[in-house]
Amino acid sequence: MKVSVIGAGNVGATCADAIAFRRIASEVVLLDIKEGFAEGKALDMMQTATLNGFNTRIVGTTNDYSKTANSDVVVITSGIPRKPGMTREELIGINAGIVKSVTQSVLEHSPEAIIVVVSNPMDTMTYLALKSSGLPKNRVIGMGGILDSSRFKCYLSMALEAPANDIQGMVIGGHGDTTMIPLTRLASYQGTPISQTLNAETLNQVAADTMVGGKTLTGLLGTSAWYAPGAAVATLVDSVINDQKRLYPCSVYLEGEYGQSDICIGVPVILGKNGWEKVVDVNLNDSEKDLFEKSAAAVRNMNSVIAEMTA
Ligand code: LAC
Repeated sequence: MKVSVIGAGNVGATCADAIAFRRIASEVVLLDIKEGFAEGKALDMMQTATLNGFNTRIVGTTNDYSKTANSDVVVITSGIPRKPGMTREELIGINAGIVKSVTQSVLEHSPEAIIVVVSNPMDTMTYLALKSSGLPKNRVIGMGGILDSSRFKCYLSMALEAPANDIQGMVIGGHGDTTMIPLTRLASYQGTPISQTLNAETLNQVAADTMVGGKTLTGLLGTSAWYAPGAAVATLVDSVINDQKRLYPCSVYLEGEYGQSDICIGVPVILGKNGWEKVVDVNLNDSEKDLFEKSAAAVRNMNSVIAEMTA
């Protein structure tokens, strides 16, 4: 199986590394516009093959999309990342043009590929990739909810002083500081509702920390995070190309599910060889439904900024 990752910056390179290290695909192509950059990162990673015990072939290229030909999955990380004090939404002007043209170039060489969008503002960029390409909806997946959920489980594990892998939890809605919705009511610790172990105040704090999870890291690092985003993309790709049918929140095009239409926003979906295969209804209560509606309104508002590009 072949995966191409467009953009060899921190997130793209970490994602390529995780895909090889975890032996998710047999070939990874890393493409970047900066001369020699992707080639250098690919070569550095290839030199870890005997150390990390993988046989994935990693190829780097400076903007030669023919190298990405016949990819099963293409991950788009292109664009500029957040700087401290910036919201993901502020990147829209620059990143929209980039994502649109990258999507076109990708599809010229891999018309059957499943597209994973990571560039921010991610929900709007996913919508743009879908609308501008005319691809079937199941083949365009925005990565945000997997990352936000893993941050949520990390903060829950710190509050519980328990291993994160013993915790279940999902974050749905938009991938924005104010639009994501950590589903605290449905989170559990080895099958036990988390609310039996953590009080409401602690849970609210965990939810608040989760929502600004990316912002906190941008403040600490001076740029957007990469380890968890890269690992989250690799997890998504794994479920798709290995047809695992895992259930994760992803940004997908809704046609009535969760009461929304003509929007890409994070909802729980089954991920398999056909891309996102099914939206799963987790029966939101009234206040969660209300939050989801507000989140969708904010995403829709952002989509209106690029209305002429998606018409
Ligand atoms: C983050 C970026 C990848 O949340 O959106 O870190």
